[in-house]
Amino acid sequence: MAKQKIRIKVNGADMEAEVEPRLLLVHCIRDVLGLTGTHIGCDTSHCGACTVHLNGKPIKSCTLFAVQADGGEVTTVEGLEQNGTLHPVQEGFWQEHGLQCGFCTPGMMMTGAAFLKENPNPNEDEIRFAISGNLCRCTGYVNIVKAIQYAAEKMRQGA
Ligand code: FES
Ligand code: FES
Repeated sequence: MAKQKIRIKVNGADMEAEVEPRLLLVHCIRDVLGLTGTHIGCDTSHCGACTVHLNGKPIKSCTLFAVQADGGEVTTVEGLEQNGTLHPVQEGFWQEHGLQCGFCTPGMMMTGAAFLKENPNPNEDEIRFAISGNLCRCTGYVNIVKAIQYAAEKMRQGA
């Protein structure tokens, strides 16, 4: 199949790749760009392990072709940390032990980070609703919610 050149800004860096039009964005991120922090848990848009930000909005990167992100800006879990400082959501998962096997964690963090930008002072129900598109097979939701609450508090203090 003929390949198509795409240009995407990924975690602040300009990237170019030649991809087949059928290549899913998640496969481009992992296999072409080598950013394996983004996980694939289902490939059918159910689990949210593949969540990244496209132009600032959280998306499930298994639901999009890489060519559809051409010209856009993608942030993956590797881009949350800035200059050696963890994003408050990452810190929250660390402090509150918001993971067990860790498979859902990158997607949870990306969803959580985008959600807190929209709602910096959420209650527990709002957090649970926000992460309802992300599945944790270890069922560690209590600590995931605590991790996002920790991040919200930290972000409010920093604001
Ligand atoms: S891998 Fe994309 S939603 Fe599961
Ligand atoms: S920590 Fe194992 S799937 Fe969530």
